[in-house]
Amino acid sequence: MRVNGIAYRTIWRPRDGCVAFIDQHLLPHRFRIEEVHTVEALAEAIRTMRIRGAIALGAAAAYGMELAAAHASDSELRTALAHAAELLIQTRPTAVNIAWAVRTILTAVAGAETAQELRDRLRSAVDALIEAEVERCRRIGEHGAAVLERLFQQQGQAPLQILTHCNAGWLGCVDYGTALSPIYLAAERGLPLHVWVSETRPRNQGAALTAWELQQSGIPYTVIVDSACGSLLQQGKVDIALVGADRITRRGDTANKIGTYPKAVLCRFHGVPFYVAAPSSSFDPECADAADIPIEERSPDEVHTVSGLCGDRYTTVRITPEGAHAWNPSFDITPAEFITGFITEYGVFPATEEGVGELLAAADACC
Ligand code: MRU
Repeated sequence: MRVNGIAYRTIWRPRDGCVAFIDQHLLPHRFRIEEVHTVEALAEAIRTMRIRGAIALGAAAAYGMELAAAHASDSELRTALAHAAELLIQTRPTAVNIAWAVRTILTAVAGAETAQELRDRLRSAVDALIEAEVERCRRIGEHGAAVLERLFQQQGQAPLQILTHCNAGWLGCVDYGTALSPIYLAAERGLPLHVWVSETRPRNQGAALTAWELQQSGIPYTVIVDSACGSLLQQGKVDIALVGADRITRRGDTANKIGTYPKAVLCRFHGVPFYVAAPSSSFDPECADAADIPIEERSPDEVHTVSGLCGDRYTTVRITPEGAHAWNPSFDITPAEFITGFITEYGVFPATEEGVGELLAAADACC
């Protein structure tokens, strides 16, 4: 994706022993690239959400394993990787892409007979994992753009009105995005569209990141507060909702940013299709249903405060009374029944146990 005309990925390896990423904490006000050299520093960037979004988190975890290996002596390699795996998996529990990436890397190096072979295999596995995720997101764009184009033809009213939540764009991935990937492609092909961006309290990924991404791409959008979504749908201003996912169970229950579930319920009530766009790496065959998904609870401080630009200073201010209690679940779960379909790299699947089974079989057959 391009920022001021320059092509970027969200996270990359500028040289051995170093990982660079776009600091998502300061956007849209400051575009800053940060470099880290240890897995501990990378884990900290994940915890504080300077790197965020399920697919970007998976990529970061893969790079984290590489950083751990870079600092380990040959005799300590396997212990260092085991520690790094544990550290990374604990950073953010809901996004299954972290555990998936760590497992993929550990499997790739399992049979290595020498330290050098292990290092070589590790590097190739990290590159392969990241390139495959980029390609999955690109293909989600193709399948999702077809959904948007079909809907547009059916109703023939311009522009197509799309509602999204949080940031499931390229910042939350390595490139392209999940929910935003179809939007970028459809817009590129000339489909007239407009995106309603819900702010996504408490971290405001919609208002800050999705708005910024869409602006960079010249796509028309309007930011709304989360609580305006009901009125928006009631007034018939949405044709389709498109969101991302952090973990999808075998029966299709989907964890995504807090505030997704009420949108899905409202969409069902108002007869608006509600799609989840996610690569196969976000489906967790080990989770049978919603009860198996760990939901991250973040610091109440995120509810007590808002951060943003004050003059030319980035600052945080308190909005609740001192001593107020706050609860801050970071994700909610949308039951499969409210989801029209999953837009994946293998096409669109129904949000049912059979649909998820078919997708996982397609992913298994390919790798
Ligand atoms: O807490 P975040 O910002 O990491 O949550 C991100 C989301 O909920 C996204 O919808 C999800 O990861 C989509 S994949 C880009």
